[in-house]
Amino acid sequence: MSSKMEPGPDAPSDNNNDDDEKYGGDFKVTPWEVEGEVDYNRLVEKFGTQPITQELLQKVKGMVGEIHPMLKLGYFFSHRDFDWVLDKKDKGENFYLYTGRGPSGMVHMGHVMPWIFTKYLQDKFDAKLLFQLTDDEKFLYGQDRTREEIKKYTYENILDIIAIGFNPKKTRIIVDTKHIQHLYPLATEIAKRITFSTAKAVFGFNNSTNIGMIGFPPVQAAPCFLPSVIEGKNTPVLIPAAIDQDPYWRMTRDVADRMGYYKPAQIHSKFLPGLGMLGKMSSSRPETAIFTTDAPEVVEKKVVSAFTGGQPTVALQRQLGGNALGCPVFWYLRYFFDTEKQSDERLLKCRSGNLLCGECKSDLAKGARPFVAEFQKRREKARDVIPMFMYDGRPLEE
Ligand code: TYM
Repeated sequence: MSSKMEPGPDAPSDNNNDDDEKYGGDFKVTPWEVEGEVDYNRLVEKFGTQPITQELLQKVKGMVGEIHPMLKLGYFFSHRDFDWVLDKKDKGENFYLYTGRGPSGMVHMGHVMPWIFTKYLQDKFDAKLLFQLTDDEKFLYGQDRTREEIKKYTYENILDIIAIGFNPKKTRIIVDTKHIQHLYPLATEIAKRITFSTAKAVFGFNNSTNIGMIGFPPVQAAPCFLPSVIEGKNTPVLIPAAIDQDPYWRMTRDVADRMGYYKPAQIHSKFLPGLGMLGKMSSSRPETAIFTTDAPEVVEKKVVSAFTGGQPTVALQRQLGGNALGCPVFWYLRYFFDTEKQSDERLLKCRSGNLLCGECKSDLAKGARPFVAEFQKRREKARDVIPMFMYDGRPLEE
């Protein structure tokens, strides 16, 4: 692995606004919309990121002793400067983690995935974490949510974040409308360096976009540099998130040098598919998403009605085998509940026609019901400890 001193220039990523060119024609990935069957290799190329290599996995293993299954199985598949952050850590320079949530609804299992991974990084690298809730973004985007609704979801989402089990001494939650005074000085510095033309190219804004949305991206960029302000010295930051958030980081990396900060590093995940046919799990299609607050019988019902990669009849399934890789039930089991070995066996059995969809659904229901029940208990306990997690200028503990 090349051991870089400082993050170098990014590979060119095309910023034109032609959807077909930009998204590969048959799928679309923006911070607000994911549609179609995403070709992740193409995204690496289009967004100008780096694939996660075996060498990088071995570096992680060497440093912390274990590779998280989401890394090993390729759920986290791409990065920018993750290797650089690890090199810094190796040399004794700690990094911050930064991730977030747009509180537009209740939390589903897709959202939880990067957070579980973030907790692993926090535990293994003893890292401090800033967690941003972009309640402003979710009010500004679209027409349909009142500020009261967003406020309710912000509170509910905070319970989910705490339920993940982040270290309260090393984690601070930032709610944009509540803590804006800590972000605004940085956001204005960032905003001053970004033209409307760049914002249009990166985010696809047009003349009908409300000006709140046009002005929002620097607010999501600001926590990339806040650790340097908190620590009083230039501090590396690593952002674990699904790849839909990447346009924000491309923009932020562009201005970092000019502001005298390190470029924020990223590690990108794929999307957990919805239980419907294609696309990411999304709150806007609640029947295809398992929410952390779903009752056990609701989880069961969603799993039973899930789309699968199976054939229309049992006879055909036995004869032709199923399409596990195009099956959301398979991916759920792989990332959440199966061991790698179990998952590989499931893949073979499905493809050879020796496994019926009913069995996989039943395995998924068996895994998801207790997972959600346990998570709900942790959410309840979280109600009492919210103040410990909120950003208030207190230093985070070493
Ligand atoms: P939001 O609320 O859309 O998503 C929160 C996190 O979940 C990821 N994500 C998914 N991951 C896997 N499968 C899915 N189906 C899926 N859907 C969403 C997102 O990539 C994200 O990591 N603007 C942001 C909030 C934000 C943020 C950040 C996110 C502010 N600062 C820093 C990541 C990092 C948003 O609306 O996320």
